[in-house]
Formats: sequence, structure tokens, C-alpha cells
Amino acid sequence: MHATDSHSFTISHFNLLDSTNTFLKNHLLNYPDYSVIWADEQQQGRGRFNRTWKTAPGRDLTFSILLPLDNLNKKHWPNISQITACAIIRLLIEYKMVPNFKWPNDVMVSNKKISGVLCERVKKDQTPFVVVGVGLNVNSDSKFLKQLDKPATSFYSELSSELSRQEILNKFLSFFSNLLDHLQLKGFLNIKKELFNQLMFKGEMISVTDGTNTFHQGILLDLNTDGTLKINCEKCGVINLSTGDINKPNFV
Ligand code: BTN
Repeated sequence: MHATDSHSFTISHFNLLDSTNTFLKNHLLNYPDYSVIWADEQQQGRGRFNRTWKTAPGRDLTFSILLPLDNLNKKHWPNISQITACAIIRLLIEYKMVPNFKWPNDVMVSNKKISGVLCERVKKDQTPFVVVGVGLNVNSDSKFLKQLDKPATSFYSELSSELSRQEILNKFLSFFSNLLDHLQLKGFLNIKKELFNQLMFKGEMISVTDGTNTFHQGILLDLNTDGTLKINCEKCGVINLSTGDINKPNFV
């Protein structure tokens, strides 16, 4: 199975895996560049900050892409997770949704999370790669979504119709491929501008946590061209963050 753009993605579809990221990391030598590992169900889906990622078996999308980094300027390596979020945003817009970008790489619709990205760097024969893991809520229903610990939504919840996961995956890969080309040839600036348009909490007070503990509180100023977030921290002045989880203060 190949997407139509310049990168040739090969999709391997599994019924059940522990985690598509973990599987790909453990079987690097068996899969060529641009392999996509797609599982209908993950028993140990992982998110950022060691959180678990739960999806409705057979109804949502969980997949990981094996992306070589040796053909990309090193300064753009940290941008991969954000071009992934940008591809998801373009995909949601194509389906007439109004997405928001929640730094560093979450995508929200109606203030609820619809997608998360987990990028993990690996080496194969001394060549650097990143495993790009994407969780996208497609056909999960409100009963399933309500039992998750944070507000979440899906294509089905927003559009009231079931969609083909294969079609959505193909479209995602096409957007992702275009963005990857753009990043390689022209850099991150235009993509940053696109993400800034959809950025949540612009000019608002936010708290920054490591998933549990708050380590900064301040006004969100800007998304920087290197993908970091500029905030005016109450205690330490203007700083650039490279990691964290942002929310309105006291957001549960
Ligand atoms: C997050 O929001 O914290 C990131 C969630 C990433 C979940 C995806 S699902 C496919 C891939 N396999 C995993 O175990 N995690 C990522």
C-alpha cells in the first residue's frame, strides 16, 4: 500500500499489538524506511509522560511511522512531532471540523482531545530515525470517550457518521508527506505560522506541568520557529519551553 506523494509508505496492519511504537522499536531491522505499523488494538498504548493511551478496539487509529532522519537538517528534528500535528489539523479541516493546536503536539476539537503524538528517537545501524506514533480517535462513541480521564472526542462524535479508517490513514499520510517535503526544502517557518493560527491559549494565562506537577505559570506569548513555546512566566520572566503539558490554571 503506497500513498501518492514522494515518500513511499508501506502499511502493515495488525489486529493486536502491545504498542505500535514499542513494536516498531523492537523490530527495526525487519521494517524498511517509511514503514507504517497500524494496530486495531493496543494492549499497552503509551502517551507522553508515561501516560496510557486508550482507544476503542477496531474503531480508532493507532499507528507508528518509521522515519529516517539522516536526510533532514538536525535543527528540524524537533519539528517532526509538530508537522505530525499539522497533518492531523489539515485532515480535520478537510472533514469540516475546526481543530485547535495544543502545544506541543496535541490536536483538539471543541476543547476535547482528538489526537496525540508520541515521537521516539532510535538508531538503526548507526542511522538516526524517529518512530512517529499517532493516536487518532475515529469511530469511538461518546460512551467510550466519557470513560477516559480527560475530555476527548472523535470524528464520529463530531460528525455523527462512521468513517473508513483506511481512508483517513491514507489522507493523513498524504498530508504528512507534503509537510515533510516542505520541512526538508523550506524549513519550519510557514508550518509554524499555520500552527500558530490554530494555537490554543494565545495571550492567556497558562500553567505548565510535567503531567502532574506545575513548574511554570505565565502568559503564552508565541510559538517559536524552533517549535518551542515562548511564555512570560510570573516568576522567571520570558522563557522558551521545549517540553511540558499546558492548560488553563486549575484545569483538571
Ligand atoms: C499523548 O497524547 O500523550 C501521545 C499519545 C500517542 C499515542 C500513540 S497510539 C500509536 C502509538 N503507539 C503508542 O503506544 N503510542 C502512540
